[in-house]
Amino acid sequence: MASSLLIPPPAQLTLGDEVVAGLTRPGQKTLPSKLFYDQVGSVLFEAICALPEYGLTQADARLLQSHAAAMIAPFAGGVTVAELGSGTGEKTRWILETLCRRQPTDYYPIEISSLALKQCQAELAAIPGLTIHPQEADYLAGLAALAALRGPAPLLVLFLGSTFGNFDPGPGHDFLVNVRSLLRPGDGLLLGLDLVKPVKRVKLAYDDPAGVTAAFNRNALARLNREFDADFDLRYWRHKIRYTRPCERVEMHLVSQRDQTAHLRALDRTVAFARGESIWTESSHKFRPAGIAPLVAAAGFRLHRQWRDDRWPFAENLCLAIE
Ligand code: AVJ
Repeated sequence: MASSLLIPPPAQLTLGDEVVAGLTRPGQKTLPSKLFYDQVGSVLFEAICALPEYGLTQADARLLQSHAAAMIAPFAGGVTVAELGSGTGEKTRWILETLCRRQPTDYYPIEISSLALKQCQAELAAIPGLTIHPQEADYLAGLAALAALRGPAPLLVLFLGSTFGNFDPGPGHDFLVNVRSLLRPGDGLLLGLDLVKPVKRVKLAYDDPAGVTAAFNRNALARLNREFDADFDLRYWRHKIRYTRPCERVEMHLVSQRDQTAHLRALDRTVAFARGESIWTESSHKFRPAGIAPLVAAAGFRLHRQWRDDRWPFAENLCLAIE
């Protein structure tokens, strides 16, 4: 079956390699969106999550809080939990507490940010019956390590907050196939996805009036200045978002306000930008409720149940790995 074939993730490049590749691309220049999440960017992201205009995180948390018992119902005999990109672990609390009221539970947060892992451990350490096994790794490597050592209990993989929406459709499919290949039939994937909503609402969520998202976006260049000894002049870069209807995704860009040149001394590169030219820093895809079952089915999962928030279109999708 096609879904059991492991599609190799792209070769491991350093962050510097990815930055150079994106900024020297012919045509549209890009930067990898993981560049956002240094210490400053992680704090800015936490601030975004508290913005009323960015309802996504709160909708995710509401659904997890309201439906935790139903979400773990298929795993009555106990389950090991893995989380891809745990962040601070706040939202995960509800699921873990509900599980631990039933039986002691092992939790494997998989994160590339060591700071987030420490915060997550501190946040959840007091839950009685919970054993936390932090994994500082990228998603598939961490999940593969867990797959190699796991016992007979089923596994529930959490991938919350619509982080999956950062993937373009092709790489997103490959990612789900790779996750499925590391699971056994009956294992679960709880996938939190932001849904298609009126364009005005999406635009406000990614271009909030207080400018927190603009700061989050521009921090990508500030980080290049800090970590790669670059000289981007942030006065001449503007945050811009664009909604593309056919793809149902919101894009974030940084637009050069004049002809300018940036030197990335630590990477030994100079990059020229024309006035009006943009660097594409992120895509966040929005999903249609009816499209989610086929999306996961193509990777070997059955959509077992879907919960939707009534205030902010967002869906929690419990998928079960099939034979
Ligand atoms: C954490 C990737 C889900 O795409 O909505 C928030 C990041 N970007 N505001 C998203 C983000 C701009 C967020 N994800």
